[in-house]
Amino acid sequence: MKVALGSDHAGFAMKGALGAILESWGHEVDDLGAYSEESVDYPDFAAKVGRGVAAGDYEAGILICGTGLGMTIAANKIKGVRAVVAHDTFSARMSRAHNNANVLALGARVIGEGLAEEIVKVWLSTEFEGGRHQRRVDKLTRLEG
Ligand code: RB5
Repeated sequence: MKVALGSDHAGFAMKGALGAILESWGHEVDDLGAYSEESVDYPDFAAKVGRGVAAGDYEAGILICGTGLGMTIAANKIKGVRAVVAHDTFSARMSRAHNNANVLALGARVIGEGLAEEIVKVWLSTEFEGGRHQRRVDKLTRLEG
C-alpha cells in the first residue's frame, strides 16, 4: 500500500520506527514530516496527510502526536477523511471493518512502539466490510455538507 506518515515533535520518534517497519512489510511510505523533535503544530501535519489521502494520493494515512487526539480532530476537518485514534487492536480492526477509516492516529505518549506496530498491522490488513456499513459511511460523507 502507499501510506502517508505524519507526526508532530511528540510523535517524531515513533514515526521513524513505524516508517521503517512499514517499509520492511513492503509498503511504499511517504514521510510528510515533522522532520525533527523541534516543537511544531500538529494540525499542519494532519492537513498534509489528510489532504493526500482525500485526494487519493495515498491509500492510508498514519498520524502520530502525543495523544493521537489533536491529529484526529484536525484530520477529520478535511472532506473525505475518516480519521480515528485507536490504542487497542479491536478498535483498530473495527475502525476499518465498520467505519472504513482511512487515517489512523496514534499517541506516542500513550502506547509504546510494540503495541503501535500491532495496531498498525491490524489496521492496514483489515478490509472494510461494506454492506450495511456502507450505508452508514455514506451518511458520514453526507454530514460533510
Ligand atoms: C504536544 O505537546 C501535544 O499537545 C500534541 O502532541 C498532541 O498530543 C495533541 O493532541
